[in-house]
Amino acid sequence: MDLAKSAVLFFTLSSLSLVEGLDNGLARTPPMGWNSWERFRCNIDCENDPKNCISEVLYREMADALADGGFKQAGYEFINMDDCWMSKARDAQGRLQPDPLRFPNGLKALADYIHSKGLKFGLYQSMGLKTCAGYPGIWGHIEDDAKTYAEWGIDLVKMDSCYNLGKKLFGEGFINMSRALIETHRPIVFSCEWAHELNPNFTEIGEYCNSVRDFEDMQDSWDKVLFILDWFASMQDILANASGPGRYNDADFLIIGDFTLSYEQAQSQMALWSVMTSQLFMSNDLRDIDPKMKEILLNLEVIAVNQDKLGKMGKRIYKNSYFEVWTKVMENGSYAAVIFSRATDMPHNFTTTMKDLKITDSPLYSVRDLFKHKDIGNFKQNDKLEVSVNPNGVVMIKATPTNNEQNASLWKEGK
Ligand code: GLA
Repeated sequence: MDLAKSAVLFFTLSSLSLVEGLDNGLARTPPMGWNSWERFRCNIDCENDPKNCISEVLYREMADALADGGFKQAGYEFINMDDCWMSKARDAQGRLQPDPLRFPNGLKALADYIHSKGLKFGLYQSMGLKTCAGYPGIWGHIEDDAKTYAEWGIDLVKMDSCYNLGKKLFGEGFINMSRALIETHRPIVFSCEWAHELNPNFTEIGEYCNSVRDFEDMQDSWDKVLFILDWFASMQDILANASGPGRYNDADFLIIGDFTLSYEQAQSQMALWSVMTSQLFMSNDLRDIDPKMKEILLNLEVIAVNQDKLGKMGKRIYKNSYFEVWTKVMENGSYAAVIFSRATDMPHNFTTTMKDLKITDSPLYSVRDLFKHKDIGNFKQNDKLEVSVNPNGVVMIKATPTNNEQNASLWKEGK
């Protein structure tokens, strides 16, 4: 079936079934947690690499690190098991089963362990004949697998779309899965990966999915961070209209704490993913993470921007050869702004005003630096705000409407 026909199928089905949309009450703010894929991939060699292979030990240890390392308290609540957890074949009754050697206690026991830490447990599947790594896909088993997940105590399903028979399984499969999950009566976040389809209708998808992976896979690479960022900017009007409470975009993993990003780049990914209101899943080794990177991931003021209750996606409002500026509307008339420098030579100054930032609802804003955790001062519409931004770095601010003129221009006087 060609793309056009698959789109017709999708829209026809969407108007016939589940007309109420995915009203499961979940993901009112972007889901947050940890996922194994970017860091641990499909390493199934537990004999030679027991610490890092895809096994129940890995997920238990990450649950410990998430719960004991302060991540859970900051909002990271899901442990997501990605591809390669399954046995290569279903059991005699056609049920999915985890690899028996790597998950000897089964997934119910693993879910119980993760729940005992106050966390939630997500798993990966593919809307197709196989997962991307070649394990059994869900096609032909949608209702049964949804029931199995509920029995195991799964809280999130990440649904990929490899081996989808030339995309013909897309619309029908995702819609049926969305309904099958609701019919289990267990609250299960439905996280969809639509990245294999060209120009999908993101607004329609949001009727069936709590989050949508829109674009390419993250790698441990700064270039990939920029590539994904630029795609989001190019699509921002469509994506912003399609997202909100219960239906968020997924710009893919935070790679902060992996091997590649510098301190400045890590701050930038954290700030930009937060202002874009992407779901936030780290893929790193939480058992052994640089304390400075951990501090970035646990920046509560930045996380609060991502988790703002309005759920609006921020947009890029300005770009020149070095700088770009992203802003996000938040609750109670506040805004977040990220001033990001792509310079690779030295810190550069950026001068702006509330008016330039299009933060114009109130005559006066109190402005706070979210990485320095310091109030900068109060700014009228045309007051100049000058910041120095490090190469590949950001300055991230929150502007809150205020009536208090007392501190106006405090920062500019150097006090
Ligand atoms: C795709 C997805 C990744 C990961 C792998 C697993 O590439 O985009 O996030 O789930 O499949 O095989």
